[in-house]
Amino acid sequence: MGTVSFLDLEKERRRKDLAAALGRIGKKFLVMSGKGGVGKTTLAVNLAAALAARGRRTGLLDIDLHGPSVAGALGLACPLAAGADGKLVPAESGPGLKVVTIQGLLPNHDEAVIWRGPKKIAAIRRFLSEAAWEDLDFLIIDAPPGTGDEPMAVLEAIDDLRPLMVTSGHKLAINDAAKAFNFLKAMRRRPVGLIDNQSYFVCPRCGGGVDIYNREAARELAGRVGAPLLASLPLDLEAARAAEEGRPLVWRRPDHPFSLLIAELAEKLEQL
Ligand SMILES: Nc1ncnc2c1ncn2[C@@H]1O[C@H](COP(=O)(O)OP(=O)(O)OP(=O)(O)O)[C@@H](O)[C@H]1O
Ligand SMILES: [Mg+2]
Repeated sequence: MGTVSFLDLEKERRRKDLAAALGRIGKKFLVMSGKGGVGKTTLAVNLAAALAARGRRTGLLDIDLHGPSVAGALGLACPLAAGADGKLVPAESGPGLKVVTIQGLLPNHDEAVIWRGPKKIAAIRRFLSEAAWEDLDFLIIDAPPGTGDEPMAVLEAIDDLRPLMVTSGHKLAINDAAKAFNFLKAMRRRPVGLIDNQSYFVCPRCGGGVDIYNREAARELAGRVGAPLLASLPLDLEAARAAEEGRPLVWRRPDHPFSLLIAELAEKLEQL
């Protein structure tokens, strides 16, 4: 019989902890993009808020370690603490939304996280296995842009993680979204679909829709990669203001057209 090192035992314990934590979580979605600034956090926060408002036990995990925005978008001043069992206790926001973000562990608000790959990957795995998520219907993960360590870490850690790609219609975002779809192909993961954000501008005076970029570009990309176009969300002043104020529009104005589009998307994801 071969000898087992302490390192092997520790690895095995971590693997079991991760499997146990993930086993208590229902549907898991990764909100990702090729290009930065296309609206991942806005979507992730509003989607998680909509699911929570629909009575789903929902967790929101921010894996944008270098630029965490979830706490700001939710208006959370969230120092995260360890519970009696040593597990990280997620911050609570709104009706039943549990939130874990690196922002809650920083000693001061503007602290920079200066970590390379292995440390980032270890931190993300610990956020999954050592946070007290308990039983959840949904876990929404907000990724940084691109195809680096952070999305790779969660895709490797979670077998049933379903990627949602966000883009806007301008050429540079579409080009990078195509690369991100190829990343998923290389990782042998099927995208759930594409979300075209800032697809058109809703004029606050007349209520009419104005195309800013090529409104067909996201649909063409979706067709090219064989993923459904799940939603086309407008660039909406109310949604932007709500983010600035740290209260997602779906909670502030659930009857707003933007909130209704998010609720429609939440319903689609419930049925997947
Ligand atoms: N549909 C929208 N309507 C109005 N404003 C929006 C919309 N989507 C995003 N924004 C605004 O655009 C800015 C960037 O959005 P957000 O932070 O969600 O992008 P991101 O993809 O998460 O960025 P990063 O790649 O840096 O993580 C924010 O100020 C946000 O409020
Ligand atoms: Mg973001």
